[in-house]
Amino acid sequence: MSTIKASSPRHFLDIKDHSTETLRHILTLAARVKALQQGRKHPLCPGLPLAGRALGLMMSRPSTRTRVSFEVGMKQLGGTVNVLSPSEMQLGRGESIADTARVLSRFVDVITLRTGTDANLRELARWSSVPVINGLTPVSHPVQILADILTFEEHRGPIAGKKLAWIGDGNNVATSMIEAAARLGFSLHLATPEGEFTPSETAVNWARENGGDIRLTHDPKEAAEGADAVITDTWVSMGDKDAEKRLKIFRPYHVDEALMALASPQALFMHCLPAHIGEEVSEAVFESPASVVFDEAENRLHAQKGLLLWCMGKDDLSAYQG
Ligand code: CP
Ligand code: NVA
Repeated sequence: MSTIKASSPRHFLDIKDHSTETLRHILTLAARVKALQQGRKHPLCPGLPLAGRALGLMMSRPSTRTRVSFEVGMKQLGGTVNVLSPSEMQLGRGESIADTARVLSRFVDVITLRTGTDANLRELARWSSVPVINGLTPVSHPVQILADILTFEEHRGPIAGKKLAWIGDGNNVATSMIEAAARLGFSLHLATPEGEFTPSETAVNWARENGGDIRLTHDPKEAAEGADAVITDTWVSMGDKDAEKRLKIFRPYHVDEALMALASPQALFMHCLPAHIGEEVSEAVFESPASVVFDEAENRLHAQKGLLLWCMGKDDLSAYQG
């Protein structure tokens, strides 16, 4: 007997897998649940829509925001959470991902995985009969981008038609941002060093084929010119081995007040965190009024809640009226 259910689970592996309507729906759910819970001391969601549901949170790489926002978000929606360290599971002793997925699917209702090997996420989703959420791989970080869009729109209104500048490494976060540019209709200008640090060709080609306005340059000034937001990320991502070389190559991509001055006077500074002050961003920019990095971090919580509700099929907007 097959253990795979007839209807496909609502996985969230990449931004590009979802239509503009679905992404907008998840963002609306997130904003509604945030509005409902604002100002409450113990912000449990009315009706506890995920009561009796369990989240398996598998983190094989370090995390502060992703781990805590999923854990707290699931609990605020009435559900329970099992934080699973893959190295402490039988997975760490060689049990297959396929068997792990089929076993966990019998216990939990949704799984979030952060992994250092993108193929592991795809394999888990292939065998899981419950929704699988990408909690970051070296290839993409889609849940971060949900929070980023929520944050930008809270501060500056609809993102469609705006210009965002990505300065630094064409990494996992950049890839998900590129996909979002195509789906949500903003223009994304990425300034990266040449060679291995340029954004994923696959992501850029996909985005352009899907109407995305993606501009690539090696000049941070050109990318920042008139931008509505300047975004950066660490120069050394988890798993990157060549830290010394990177810190040298990325030096011209440091976001400082001079670079911000080229952007729109209302430009936001955004960063998924953790930040390395003095490397990808100056302290003055990080601490400036333009910086919305802690709103971005808070919105991880609200975005995860919108996403969990969608994954679990508890996404009827009328249930979350103010
Ligand atoms: N931005 C982000 O994903 O942070 P963590 O690595 O702390 O989860
Ligand atoms: N690009 C970073 C993001 C951390 C949230 C990394 O992969 O380490």
